[in-house]
Amino acid sequence: MKTLDVAGGTAAYQRVGQGEPLLLLHGFPFTSECFWPLLEAPPKGLELIVPDLPGFGRSTPLPGPALTMEAIAGWALSLLDGLGLERCHVGGVSMGGYAALALTRLDPSRVLSLTLLGSHPFTDDAVGVARRHATAEEAEREGTAGIVARMLQVVLSEKAQPLVRTRLEAVMRQASAQVVAQASRGMAARVDQREVLARFYGPVLLVTGALDPLVPPDRAGQVAQLPSKAVARVLPDVGHLPQLEAADEVRRLLETLPQGGVQTT
Ligand code: MLT
Repeated sequence: MKTLDVAGGTAAYQRVGQGEPLLLLHGFPFTSECFWPLLEAPPKGLELIVPDLPGFGRSTPLPGPALTMEAIAGWALSLLDGLGLERCHVGGVSMGGYAALALTRLDPSRVLSLTLLGSHPFTDDAVGVARRHATAEEAEREGTAGIVARMLQVVLSEKAQPLVRTRLEAVMRQASAQVVAQASRGMAARVDQREVLARFYGPVLLVTGALDPLVPPDRAGQVAQLPSKAVARVLPDVGHLPQLEAADEVRRLLETLPQGGVQTT
């Protein structure tokens, strides 16, 4: 794990592989470790830059009650500045995908391609927003154990290998109550980002799992119909985290990015 001073705090990040840089943003409530199959065997032609987002893992939290997607995006751009990277491929899983979209909205000129894994550009409905605030309050009142147990049921499909489940649970248990509350409020405040996808000029790769209860196939289908150059894959027998349940397929798809665009074969 490397570190850099960003936004008055420490940004911890992993940097592996060789080739064009791909910034990968993790989901909630994980760390950079949730990309472990890709970190252990990076896609050919790509150098992965995978931070612990602010307040997660070894990175310093940002102040305030909510960790908004725009705040993550601004922080990630500062990290890229610190690394001297003017442009790179950008991707994220789930919450990381929301933040990748926010980064693209803030400064599309820095984004070579956009990859969303188990993610989408839509906002939450009123019930979803209320659930996020309830999660934030639960974290502050009771800690994260109940939240982690419930999320573990949702983010992996029943087909996930037991070892994946055990390892992911260990990652989730590291999340502090503070960052769980901040990120829940930040996700509740998301804006609709369909326009970002529609307008983005570069290649877009969308990968979802057919068994993902958080991005169900009808929603993935709506994303695929957006007027962009998106290549969309719905992977059978896979849940919310394709990089863990279908790592080889995700790696293969990512390997199509550096050649100037996402290819479909
Ligand atoms: C995630 O995996 O980042 C979260 O499940 C995202 C969400 O709750 O929308």
